[in-house]
Amino acid sequence: MMFTRESFRALEFRNGALVLLDQRLLPSRLGYIECRSVRDVFLAIQDMAVRGAPAIGGAAGYGVYFALLESAGDAAAFNRSCDYLITSRPTAVNLKWAVERVRKTALNSALDPQAVLEEAHSIVREDLEMNYRIAEAGCEVIRPGAAVLTHCNTGALATCGWGTALGVIKAAWQKGGNIFVYADETRPRLQGARLTAWELKEAGIPSKLIPDSAAATLIRDGKIDCVILGADRIAANGDFANKIGTFALSVICRHYGVPFYTAAPTSTIDFDTPDGSGIMIEERDADEVRMIDGIRIAPEGFDVYNPSFDVTPHQNLTGIITECGIIREPYDVNLARLRTQLGR
Ligand code: MRU
Repeated sequence: MMFTRESFRALEFRNGALVLLDQRLLPSRLGYIECRSVRDVFLAIQDMAVRGAPAIGGAAGYGVYFALLESAGDAAAFNRSCDYLITSRPTAVNLKWAVERVRKTALNSALDPQAVLEEAHSIVREDLEMNYRIAEAGCEVIRPGAAVLTHCNTGALATCGWGTALGVIKAAWQKGGNIFVYADETRPRLQGARLTAWELKEAGIPSKLIPDSAAATLIRDGKIDCVILGADRIAANGDFANKIGTFALSVICRHYGVPFYTAAPTSTIDFDTPDGSGIMIEERDADEVRMIDGIRIAPEGFDVYNPSFDVTPHQNLTGIITECGIIREPYDVNLARLRTQLGR
């Protein structure tokens, strides 16, 4: 099928700089920042100017390129910078995956900057291609006229173009499926309200924004035909980490028998982590919960628990939509087969 190209890109390499659409400013303003060093890329990932597992991976590839330029042929310094970059956010495995892939190219090419830059470009190009294939593979789970619920942001902003879960949704809409989308606002960073609602509006898809706490009522009342959302890391048995609130949604869907899918490129699968208990969950700053847009909404200094992600057990999944098709249970067996197919 044909996909329309969005008018924006989350990341682009131009004139020696990684240009990022600064997602902290949306939806009020379309602003960009330029990264020209490994530290710039580290800070952009850590502070979420760029976010979403595949987009973080795409940005990190260029971070390795900057690390190489800065290390001026010193392999030990280069390796230290790569390790440092990986620590910018701990949960999305695409970050580590991209750094290791580009680092390997650097080491195999005797630290050739051109080869490294090419590899970083390949990650971005391949991610876009994978997204289109995920969209094609996933369309079948959204029947015409369906109401779909999604969580966080998994669109073109979260990837190197098009999107994963939101990419499936956009493809179903473009195919004339006459669908309706409910977007969770996604507390505390509000990726649903700020980013997904913005992307849905840009795409002209009929949709509503809901407080996260309204999802259970909609699902109980039979108003949701399926849930499709993204993943930050998928373990070898199909357990997966995604934005906080995903696990709760999966439990509600299982209770009411509503199909629950994650959509992700195979770069999000961490075959070396046997199950979800091995996934490190990032905890973010307390003020993300205590404040909204600089305005305090909780008593000053009040203690906060702010995990950015949670782990959903594979038992709650209906399927994993990848560029290689939809993986279904038994996940351990089918993911092991996929690993062999990918040669990883
Ligand atoms: O903290 P974020 O905004 O980077 O979290 C993003 C998510 O949890 C997404 O669902 C996931 O990265 C998949 S994006 C295609």
